[in-house]
Amino acid sequence: MSITTAVFGTLSDGRTVTKYTIENANGTTLALLDYGAYIQSICVKDKHGIRRDVTVGFDDADGFEHRTDYQGAAAGPYANRIGGGMFTIDGVTYDLEKNEKGVTTLHGCGEYNKTLWTAQILGDNSVAMRYLRPDGLHGYPGAINAVITYTLTDNDRISIKYDCVSDKKTFMNPTDHTYFNLGGYDSGDILSHSLTLYSSRYTPVDENSIPTGACAPVADTPFDFTTTKKIGDEIDADNEQLRFTGGYDHNFCIDGADGSLKKAAEAICADTGIRLTVYTTLPGIQFYAGNFLCGVPGKGSLPMEKRTGFCLETQYYPDTPNHPAFPSCLFNAGEHYTSETVYAFDTVSD
Ligand code: BGC
Repeated sequence: MSITTAVFGTLSDGRTVTKYTIENANGTTLALLDYGAYIQSICVKDKHGIRRDVTVGFDDADGFEHRTDYQGAAAGPYANRIGGGMFTIDGVTYDLEKNEKGVTTLHGCGEYNKTLWTAQILGDNSVAMRYLRPDGLHGYPGAINAVITYTLTDNDRISIKYDCVSDKKTFMNPTDHTYFNLGGYDSGDILSHSLTLYSSRYTPVDENSIPTGACAPVADTPFDFTTTKKIGDEIDADNEQLRFTGGYDHNFCIDGADGSLKKAAEAICADTGIRLTVYTTLPGIQFYAGNFLCGVPGKGSLPMEKRTGFCLETQYYPDTPNHPAFPSCLFNAGEHYTSETVYAFDTVSD
C-alpha cells in the first residue's frame, strides 16, 4: 500500500489543487482531490489484466471547477433535490437558494464540491477530507463539521465513511457522485452494462424530479432490476416516470436497510468483466444513467456524451425534509450523522 501526492492543478483564484493517490498491492488506484473531495479516478485491472480507469470525469482542475456535472463529487450538505428549495424545522422555514431553474435545490447548490477540503493522510491506505461549512450558506442551516474518509483495501474495496456534526438541528445527506463506466471512461455508452438493484420499491417523482411521497413497487415496471438486466433494455420504454427524467434518474429503496452494510447494487461490463458491487448503510440509492451528459469535454478531451457513465448515489431519499414518512435525516445539534458506502471491484469471466 502507498499514498502519493502531486499537484493536480490550479483554481482560477490561484489556489493549488492536490491529488492523493492510494495504490494497493494489485496496482489498483484511487485518486482523490482536496478540491471538492472529488474521486478523480479509480483504476482497476480488467479480466485480461489491462488497467482501466472506470470513472468518467476530468483530468484538469478547470474541468472540476467549471465544467463539472458532479463527476466524482462529494455532494452535500444535502445531496439530490429539495422540493421548492424549502423546508421547515421546529416551525422555522428555511428558504434555500434554488440552483435548478429557480425552482428546486440540487446537491446543496454545489457547495461541497466547490470547496477546498483539508486532506489528511491516515496510515498507508486512507485519506480523510475535512470541511467546516458556515451556518446559513445558500440559506441552509447549520455550521457542519464534515469529515469524509476514503480507504482502499488490498481486496479492491473502496470504503467511504462520513461523519458530520452540526451546531444546529439540521438535515444532513451527503453522497458520492462518481460516474462509472466499467468498460473504461473512453469506451462509449453504458447501456450494455448489466445491473442488479436490491430494491423492490422506488420513489416515483413529479416533472421536477421531486418524489411524490410514494414508495412504489418496481414489479412489472422498467424499474425492476431485482432480476439482472441491461441498463439499456427498458431505459427508453414508454413510461411516464422515464419521460419525466429522460431515462433512469430515481431513488431506489434498499430492501432490508437497517443501518448495517447491505448490498445495494451490482453492475458488470461484459467486455472487461469488471464488476462493481455497492454496499451501504443508507436506506436509498439514486440510479442515474447519465442522461444529461451532453458532450462536455472530459478526460483526454473526449466528449462525455449522453449515458457514457452511470451513478449509484447512496443516500437518504431525495426531498426527505418534506416527506415525514421517509426515513429521517434530521439530526439534533451535536448529534453525529454517520454512514458508510463501499465500492467493491472484481472481475467475472464470460
Ligand atoms: C440527479 C440528476 C442530475 C445529476 C447531475 C443526479 O443525482 O438525480 O438529475 O442531473 O445528479 O447533476
